Amino acid sequence: MNNIQIKDFVRDILDFPKKGVVFKDITPILSSAEATEAVLQQLLAPLKNERIDKVAAIESRGFFFGILLAHALKVGFVPIRKPGKLPGEVIGEHYDLEYGNSSLEIHTDAIAKGERVLLHDDVLATGGTAQAATKLIEHLGGEIVQCTFLMELDFLHGREKLKKYSINSILNY
Ligand code: PRP
Ligand code: MG
Repeated sequence: MNNIQIKDFVRDILDFPKKGVVFKDITPILSSAEATEAVLQQLLAPLKNERIDKVAAIESRGFFFGILLAHALKVGFVPIRKPGKLPGEVIGEHYDLEYGNSSLEIHTDAIAKGERVLLHDDVLATGGTAQAATKLIEHLGGEIVQCTFLMELDFLHGREKLKKYSINSILNY
């Protein structure tokens, strides 16, 4: 397992979701127990001496490793979801996409003031999604310990929107 190359489990899909885009597909990681474990351990590695109270992850692809991280850290999981999906009282945050905009929501009782939160998503691209999630967590009084990503698309400079935070991305493209 130690010798596993995680990049071997990410495949390029041409012209998805639209022509000209090369999509980085992580489903081969998910379908391998060894690759999944290797990713999980790399996400956990820099957190050994951190106190963490909650893991928050972003719908939908952030949920895959978000729930595994929460389970491994023995803390609760907080879903940050697309609009209209969470049934309780929520707060929302708008963010810009390449074309248009969207928003994310969190339950207002999901994080207590002062709780230390690990934020996870699969990809850091332009950073708009993760930035909106950090705002939601902080609106509730959560303190962000780290933003962790399975992959970072360096050429989109998403980390510039997350300058305040510690970032761990295990694959860079
Ligand atoms: C993708 C990806 C990240 C986000 C990154 O999610 O899973 O969440 O985009 O982009 P950004 O850094 O430019 O904001 P998407 O909105 O496609 O939805 P999904 O996770 O439900 O597939
Ligand atoms: Mg996503």
